[in-house]
Amino acid sequence: MHVYSSLALAAIITGASFAAFGQAGHTHAAPQGSHSAADSGKSHGTSHGHAGGYARGHMDKRFTDPEALAKSFDKPERAAWQMPDRVIADLGLKPGQSVADIGAGTGYFSVRLARSAAKPTVYSVDIEESMLAYLAKRAGEEGLTNVTTVLGGMESAKLPEPVDVVLVVNTYHHIADRLSYFRDLRKNLRKGGKLAIVDWKKGAPMGPADEYRFTPDEIRRELAGAGFRAVGQHDYLPNQNFLMFTVD
Ligand SMILES: C[S@@+](CC[C@H](N)C(=O)[O-])C[C@H]1O[C@@H](n2cnc3c(N)ncnc32)[C@H](O)[C@@H]1O
Repeated sequence: MHVYSSLALAAIITGASFAAFGQAGHTHAAPQGSHSAADSGKSHGTSHGHAGGYARGHMDKRFTDPEALAKSFDKPERAAWQMPDRVIADLGLKPGQSVADIGAGTGYFSVRLARSAAKPTVYSVDIEESMLAYLAKRAGEEGLTNVTTVLGGMESAKLPEPVDVVLVVNTYHHIADRLSYFRDLRKNLRKGGKLAIVDWKKGAPMGPADEYRFTPDEIRRELAGAGFRAVGQHDYLPNQNFLMFTVD
């Protein structure tokens, strides 16, 4: 992991080494990705212009069919590039701590977080009731008692209490007014807590259209505006940037 101070951050032009995996799809072309043929037909793919210095608009897309999406999101092959255990280890969760999985979807990360060594309290946040119902059933079937589903809003995760860690996987580019969303989230992250953003790299062979892919610097700039301090990034995921932030 590259660790840097806020002063050093200003000098960083771009932190990620983008792996070249052939041409990036312009739609949801790669069947093994989180963005798959299963949901490609429902994408609106519209970028809304935002005032306030956003690097990009957001991808206005709803995920309403968990059974179908699970075939893509929870494919065993995903582990090869998603490396969920390594990602979770790098969150540094300790026993007794809590974590919010924002844009939890079918629970790919939520159930693994719940089973991880620290056995944290997991708040699985999504804007889709159907996703949360699927996830709650899945957690129940897997005997996980430390998962709580939370119906989030477009402008707030609506967490019931402040948490120690927030994880946002493949969802950052779907959040509309990120400045106000993450400002609100900041209030629900404990002092010294961690925010981890995992989102699609430019050039990765799966994922959304290029206009919805952010560079690490773009994400850092946006989140600095919301009060988050960048503390480092991990470069081992081939398809996604993995950036870490904290609040002071
Ligand atoms: C591409 S899926 C990623 C699911 C999961 N994180 C994974 O990696 O498998 C994006 C998820 O984020 C949810 N979502 C989109 N906008 C959201 C928002 N503003 N707040 C919370 N969840 C949101 C969608 O409903 C969907 O379940």
